[in-house]
Amino acid sequence: MRSLRTGLSLGSLLTGIAALGALLAATPAAHAADTPLRDLGAAKGKAIGTAVTGSKLTGTYGDIAGTQFSSLTPGNAMKWGSVEPTQGNFNWAEADQIVAFAQAHDQQVRGHTLVWHSQNPSWLTTGSWTPAQLGSLLQNHIGTEVGRYQGKIAAWDVVNEPFNEDGTYRSTLWYNGLGTDYIADALTWARAADPAAELYINDYNVEGVNAKSTALYNLVKSLKQQGVPIDGVGLQAHLILGQVPSTLQQNIQRFADLGVDVAITELDIRMALPADSAKLAQQAADYKSVVAACAAVARCVNLTVWGFTDSDSWVEGTFPGYGAATPYDANYAPKPAYYGIAEALGGSGGPTDPPTGACSAAYTVTSQWNTGFTGQVTISCSGASLSSWRASWAFGAGQQITQAWNATCTQSGSAVSCSNASYNGSVPDGGSVTFGFNASWSGSNPLPTVTLT
Ligand code: XIL
Repeated sequence: MRSLRTGLSLGSLLTGIAALGALLAATPAAHAADTPLRDLGAAKGKAIGTAVTGSKLTGTYGDIAGTQFSSLTPGNAMKWGSVEPTQGNFNWAEADQIVAFAQAHDQQVRGHTLVWHSQNPSWLTTGSWTPAQLGSLLQNHIGTEVGRYQGKIAAWDVVNEPFNEDGTYRSTLWYNGLGTDYIADALTWARAADPAAELYINDYNVEGVNAKSTALYNLVKSLKQQGVPIDGVGLQAHLILGQVPSTLQQNIQRFADLGVDVAITELDIRMALPADSAKLAQQAADYKSVVAACAAVARCVNLTVWGFTDSDSWVEGTFPGYGAATPYDANYAPKPAYYGIAEALGGSGGPTDPPTGACSAAYTVTSQWNTGFTGQVTISCSGASLSSWRASWAFGAGQQITQAWNATCTQSGSAVSCSNASYNGSVPDGGSVTFGFNASWSGSNPLPTVTLT
């Protein structure tokens, strides 16, 4: 709703000719937040990251990845199955490309991931290996990959998803062959290959305080006590709408209190499709609360979304019926979630004017004689549109409408209400509709304030 008052004096009205009303500027249309997320994050000491697909890093996708984020994680390109599809044959093309893009855009890279039970090459998973062979395969893999990118990777997710939901160790190629030692060994080998990289253990469903996160906590504590190189904990944060754990900040804090950094490494918040405005608003609130929890703990150093656009998200393919999990829609328009992140980092909450805020009404006296006058009201829209309208005002000096055209006007006392005719309710973006009326006056004919609803 928007109220307008003209600035004309009674004297100018008495000159009596055309166009005595005022024209009004429209409210500016919605626009993206002025400050990129990476700058908002930097002001709070946080890197803001996204997972990326190397082949997409051009055009709008590349622009957003390069300008909004200060950290990139290859979504798949550094996984063992990607880099060594057959034994001894390496493919570093996509990983190299992402590292080069990051360097060109003054971004850090989170290396992801060295030791995992998933996305391993089939030669590795189908081979039959003695524990000694398995250990040297893993050591060589870590030495080769970490060594290749030495000095270029801010942090490595060295070990990914080692736990079951109940906090026991997941049964994997590594655990089954090497026992729990594989974790300390992998960290030690990674440190040797790149002493400057921060070394992380990363897992999902460890965002709140629960059995799994407590197992991770106990592991990190014991690794620290043994002097094993462990610098950080990654909370993946693949969350469901409305289910941000209430203990998230407390959980981040307890890891920080162990003397390690924390990163939110793979944030997305999925909803049952189709999306609607209520779900998108809830998602914005959820993103905001996750970012706020990280912002509240100094050692939460990086917050990374797992894909920034709904067109580059793993969610729809992995969780049937769910999607719309990222901060930009599939056409790269920032969603409410984007502004939720920005707001938690001290930035703009985004466009707040309702769509009708960009439509306005201008009241004009087009002619006036001793007992009567003709008035007109023009309704204009810019950055918004209307499918029906009502213009209301109160006459200030006893004026009385006698006749109206292109609208249905009623007057009760001083209150006038004019709604659209059957044929002119629609006001398109960039267009206008005008209606007119005759009215009586005596003494004075002040211009009223018109309200559009
Ligand atoms: C996902 C990728 O996004 C998908 O493209 C791929 O098909 C499967 O893996 N936890 C992780 C990530 O640590 O590596 C996973 O990425 C998502 C879950």
